[in-house]
Amino acid sequence: MKKILITGAFGQLGTSLCEVLSNKSILATGRVMTLTEKYHCMELDITNQENVKELIRNYKPDIIIHLAAMTDVDGCEKNPETAFEINVGATENLLKNFNGKFIYVSTDYVFDGEEGPYYEDDKVNPVSVYGRTKLYGENLVQESDLEWIILRSNIIFSYNDRTKASFVNWVVDSLKKKQMITVVNDQWNNPTWTNDLANVMSMMIEKNICGIYHYGGGDFLNRYEFAKMIASTFSLDRELIKPITTLELNWLAQRPLKSGLYTNKIELDLGIEPLPIQKALDKMVSLL
Ligand SMILES: NC(=O)c1ccc[n+]([C@@H]2O[C@H](COP(=O)([O-])OP(=O)(O)OC[C@H]3O[C@@H](n4cnc5c(N)ncnc54)[C@H](OP(=O)(O)O)[C@@H]3O)[C@@H](O)[C@H]2O)c1
Repeated sequence: MKKILITGAFGQLGTSLCEVLSNKSILATGRVMTLTEKYHCMELDITNQENVKELIRNYKPDIIIHLAAMTDVDGCEKNPETAFEINVGATENLLKNFNGKFIYVSTDYVFDGEEGPYYEDDKVNPVSVYGRTKLYGENLVQESDLEWIILRSNIIFSYNDRTKASFVNWVVDSLKKKQMITVVNDQWNNPTWTNDLANVMSMMIEKNICGIYHYGGGDFLNRYEFAKMIASTFSLDRELIKPITTLELNWLAQRPLKSGLYTNKIELDLGIEPLPIQKALDKMVSLL
């Protein structure tokens, strides 16, 4: 059985991916370990170059799925050196020490959001430090001699208390406390359920495909509409959600506004259809 090393395995996407791949030979690694008996886990800070090298030499993975990243977009803008160290330097070190198939999860933030949704070969032009670091990571992967997949996704969601990155957690927890929230109505995407994405990743491994792919949910909508859908799905008060523009929020990092990812290529190559967002939310809630 092929051995799979996963970085960032205890984050939002990693948690779903490890569940989906738990019948395979996986080693789940991350900065802060979550204990489980379902698969092998260990602590690994990917910026520790010696530890990474040693682990790859000892474990001898056939596949690395590289999820670990600094994903706090404003945090990256504030601390660009740390963002580069984690998202670029550590990716370079993994590639340098490995000789197998490398799967890199990237983002629609490599685009500027002027005229999305985007196809795989559309022009990249990141508008934030986070987007730039993820793009540099992509470039390193493409320049390597390895077999590789770059899988871009967007607004990855789950209801998962193990991550700081979950939009669903924030909406649900705020509304449960009857707190009013403001959500941008001018950022467009096709949000992607972690379980759905993890299943697609598993199929990509099974079918042994390579190259750049986009995957996202079956509908394009703005974040305000998405928040309202979340509220309805959890039977919470939609009226507590108020629309706001990105400009009004005055975030540190610029965001791609008209974004989202077309999925025609992956649909064709895997024979799949992206999950409509309401269906994904319903399935997610049915598993709670
Ligand atoms: N979230 C999205 O909407 C989205 C969209 C497109 C692509 N992506 C990409 O998908 C991947 C997974 O993201 P996610 O949504 O699952 O975010 P996440 O929950 O923040 O997961 C990222 C994981 O990486 C870990 N990490 C950070 N620095 C590390 C280090 N130095 N060594 C080891 N682990 C480290 C984090 O650990 P800590 O909790 O300790 O920081 C976290 O567990 C990332 O590569 C991201 O760029 C995300």
